[in-house]
Amino acid sequence: MSERLVVTGSQWGDEGKGKITDWFACRADMVVRYQGGNNAGHTVVFDGHKYSLQSIPSGIFNPATVNVMANGMVVNPESVVAELERLHEQGINDYQLYISDRAAMVMPWHSALDGAYEAMKGGEKIGTTKKGIGPAYSDKYSRTGLRMGDLLEPEYFAERLRAALEQKNIELKSLGLPEFRFEEVYGRYMELAAILGPRICDTSELINSYLRMPDKKILFEGAQGMMLCIDHGTYPFVTSSTPSASSVPVGAGISPKWIDNVVGVAKAYCTRVGEGPFPTELQGELAHEIRERGHEYGTVTGRPRRIGWFDAVVARYTARLAGTDYWALMLFDVLSGLDKVCICTGYECDGKVMTTPPSTISRLSRCKPVLIEVEGWKEDITGARSWDDLPEAAKNYVRKIEEVTGVEVGIISVGPDRSQTIILSEKLKDF
Ligand code: GDP
Ligand code: IMO
Ligand code: MG
Repeated sequence: MSERLVVTGSQWGDEGKGKITDWFACRADMVVRYQGGNNAGHTVVFDGHKYSLQSIPSGIFNPATVNVMANGMVVNPESVVAELERLHEQGINDYQLYISDRAAMVMPWHSALDGAYEAMKGGEKIGTTKKGIGPAYSDKYSRTGLRMGDLLEPEYFAERLRAALEQKNIELKSLGLPEFRFEEVYGRYMELAAILGPRICDTSELINSYLRMPDKKILFEGAQGMMLCIDHGTYPFVTSSTPSASSVPVGAGISPKWIDNVVGVAKAYCTRVGEGPFPTELQGELAHEIRERGHEYGTVTGRPRRIGWFDAVVARYTARLAGTDYWALMLFDVLSGLDKVCICTGYECDGKVMTTPPSTISRLSRCKPVLIEVEGWKEDITGARSWDDLPEAAKNYVRKIEEVTGVEVGIISVGPDRSQTIILSEKLKDF
């Protein structure tokens, strides 16, 4: 039987999905990105080199792994070509990559509109990555968008492009933004089609062919995190897709019956980049210390990430949404040296204690974390390679997280490098 594993972000993104996907990708036959676009920034570190991926799956470093950008993504062909060039400059030339013909295509006006919509929101801005993700998904759902497969049929593409431009130029003009000329966009997208065309195909068919083969290991790599989910996140301070494992079937074109296990990637604390409520957020010296130790600056935008304690309310909620079987507990090394570490077990709001997040940000903004204190540890744990290498206080912290979330910790990460990974679960060791 083949094995199918989903790796999904369980907080507000940047949990370390790239590292965990790469770890499993060394054994996987296929890695599939099923949502989001180049708003993601996934970091992979091995053999002294650091790579940053945006749209391309984190299995790209293993020549034997088939990498798929599936239909649920929004694909910016310009950005994909640039990403491939960057990988080429870093010596990554031997890979297998396919792009869905059904994936929504990010067009040049999408990022312009993203910026303009944000500017119009003033103080209420979301703090998007300005990659045009929201406008591209909006066009998909309003049924006016272009798709990657359109590039394979130049006449059809031209027709769709003309229709889109007619609408978009009116909007761009009304916002005081430069309009786009058909010839320029068409010419450039045909150049991009010449480069990416051979990779564009029916990826659902490809993935399903692997699912039907015995002993194939397939990894689904989520982007963003479930608290940024359009349905279940801190709306409207969210992204425009569903990062959860539940999005895999639609976003990859497979039956829900195929998913075996879900790894929820979560930092040993929390971070958030961009605006929106963050109940366990820390301020001052402690936040600064953790930010510097964890190098908590956005991979895509370079923005400083906001820092907070591990939030078990969020963890339980996202585990419920995704059916999380195991945590991959990331950046554990960053907490070394603290006298005490806190975990949020509930929210106090309007005189009541809540154990699951409220739906409105107005209420969430009034929530105060109920914290428990756990003894810290002084030891540097970046060299730990097994459970027994961890100090007792660090082990207690892991056990506490399991206790308050009800989910087993299957992986502990003690540094950015591929080798700094402790696999606790026997089942995950077998993948
Ligand atoms: P992703 O978007 O979920 O793939 O995460 P990012 O790559 O945006 O951010 C995670 C950051 O933490 C990257 O810089 C990683 O190299 C780094 N990282 C991952 N795991 C660990 C870890 O266990 N310890 C430390 N110190 N850094 C880590
Ligand atoms: P990875 O995959 C962290 C955040 C943005 C903003 C909100 C909406 O690296 O974990 P968007 O550009 O998607 O419309 O922005 O979502 N955001 C992320 N934060 N990690 C990400 O991806 C993110 N992708 C989007 O900062 O708050
Ligand atoms: Mg990231």
